[in-house]
Formats: sequence, structure tokens, C-alpha cells
Amino acid sequence: IKKIGVLTSGGDSSGMNAAIRSVVRTCAFHGLECVGIYRGYEGLMEGDFINLDARSVKGIINKGGTILKSARSEEFKTKEGRQKAYDKLIESNVDGLVVIGGDGSFTGAMIFNQEFDFPVMGIPGTIDNDIFGTTHTLGFDTALNTVVEAIDKIRDTASSHNRLFFIEVMGRDVGHIALNAGVAGGAEEILIPEEDLGLERLEESLRRSRKSGKSSSIVIVAEGDKIGKNIFELKEYVDENMSGYDVRVSVLGHMQRGGSPSCFDRVLASRMGVKAVESILEGKTNFMVGLLNNKMELTPLENAIKGKSKINLELLRVSDIMTT
Ligand code: F6P
Repeated sequence: IKKIGVLTSGGDSSGMNAAIRSVVRTCAFHGLECVGIYRGYEGLMEGDFINLDARSVKGIINKGGTILKSARSEEFKTKEGRQKAYDKLIESNVDGLVVIGGDGSFTGAMIFNQEFDFPVMGIPGTIDNDIFGTTHTLGFDTALNTVVEAIDKIRDTASSHNRLFFIEVMGRDVGHIALNAGVAGGAEEILIPEEDLGLERLEESLRRSRKSGKSSSIVIVAEGDKIGKNIFELKEYVDENMSGYDVRVSVLGHMQRGGSPSCFDRVLASRMGVKAVESILEGKTNFMVGLLNNKMELTPLENAIKGKSKINLELLRVSDIMTT
């Protein structure tokens, strides 16, 4: 292995820049060349590459987003698209690829590896934390801190006005952000796709919380939750069926994906970049690096994508007890 390419793909997350920096510097440390690939698989198919040395990644560890930009590519899902990508890599003498992204990006990397026997290594970067084989994906911790800060602020105004707030957080298919931020922000109820709470239980829980003397309430809703799918309909439902509630909705949206990465994400990104490059050097391929029991471990890409939900059941229970 002489030259490694690195790209960021799919939804961006804080910590991606710190991971790029780590990949580039680990390459430099081991005397390898490194190229950055712009716009994920789109730039890979076009050969939109830039040579990166240790100094090119200065001053980015604290920056959100990704200096390499990110994209979701339809063309890379086709055999022709992947052939183009392979040709560009060979043309530029790149002989290993680090893919920073989520499950869609890993699926592409895995198929690419199988078709061309090209060494690939994944670094999990998504705020959703929906990847198996790591307790934390890059950007999850930063997003959590952003959400908790937002909940704290909304709670101030909610309690001044005795209001019920539904706060929607990201998580298309999973409730990691909702559950963790909900517990940390003291939410009265948390709606996540992994647990079908049902409207009746929500109503009951709101009534219980009012009876216990609470004048305001915060309900955290993961965007993928069944009854929270349309959070404005949820508000309408409460307006129409439960008297005495002054309801407001707040959708936090893409602010959750940006911002300077937390200390945790910076350290994690630095560790993951080192492990990714050194694993390729050891001849490993088609794996993802992850954090398990505070150690860097490799998980086959296939398992990382297909692994079952890792929602923390203990946390669900803690959340239930905290709403007493
Ligand atoms: O990064 C994953 C995610 O945050 C999902 O939770 C969300 O549904 C999605 O990205 C939205 O991303 P986009 O606007 O880029 O399609």
C-alpha cells in the first residue's frame, strides 16, 4: 500500500474533519501518500481528487461539516458507476480507500470491495448512531450536546408559559438521539421508533405528569417515530382531544448536524483514523473501525450495516423511572 484515498459520504456529521485529519496524518506518519476525494462517491467517479499532506489538514479538528464535502450518489449504485470509480483510483495509483459515512456509504464500499477486490475501510460518521459494531458514531455526541442545550432553552420558555412542547429531533429510523438527549434534558416523555408507545399511553403519561404537579412538559420525538411522524398532527390531536394544554412544536432540524465537534468526537475521530489506516496497512479490508469497550475494534462492513438495533434498554427503563 502506497497511496490511500479518503472520502466523506452521506449525511455529514461533526467530527468528520477530525477523522480526515487523522487519516491524512497517519498516512504521513507511515510514509504513505494520501488523496482527499471530493463529494463522496460522486467525486470518486469523476476523479475529483486533491493531494493532502500533514499540513493541508491544519486547523480543521475543531470545524463542523467536512472540508471534502459530502454527497449521496445514485450512480455509484450502478455497476458502470463503480467501474468508473475503480478506473479513477487506478489512474491515480490509489490502492486503499477510507470511507467516512453511514450505512448507505458502507453498502457502496462493501459492493465495491467485492467487485474489484479493492481494499476499503469504513469509519462510522453519522449523528444517528445507527451503526452496529461501535457504541458511538462520529458526530453523535456533538449532536446530543446540541440537542440538550436546545431542550434546556426550550424548557425555560415552556415553564414560563405552562406549555407542553413537542420537540422533534433527528433519527430517521432510530431513537438514539431522542432517548439520550431526552434523559439528559429531563423530558417527560420520549417517543422513539424502537418502542411503540401508542397515543393512549402518551395521553395517560401527560395526564399523570400534570397530576403530579408539573405545569409544563417536554416530549422528545424522534422524527422516525410512528406516532410522531407528523409532529404537527400530533399537536392537533392533543389540541382536539385533551383540554387544557397549550401546545407548541419545535423542530430542531439540521442545526443538529453542524457545529464544532465535542472533545469526545475529536478524540474518537483521531483514534478511528489511526486504526483505519493501520488496519489497511496490515492487509485488512472490508471492515469498519468502531469503539467497543473503549477499544478500537474491527467489524465486517456487512455486520455493521445489518446488525440489529442497539438501543439501550436500560436507558429506556431509566427514562421511565425518571418520569415518575
Ligand atoms: O444524518 C442522518 C440524518 O440526520 C437523519 O436522521 C435525517 O433523517 C437525515 O439525516 C436528513 O438528511 P438530509 O436532509 O441530508 O436528507
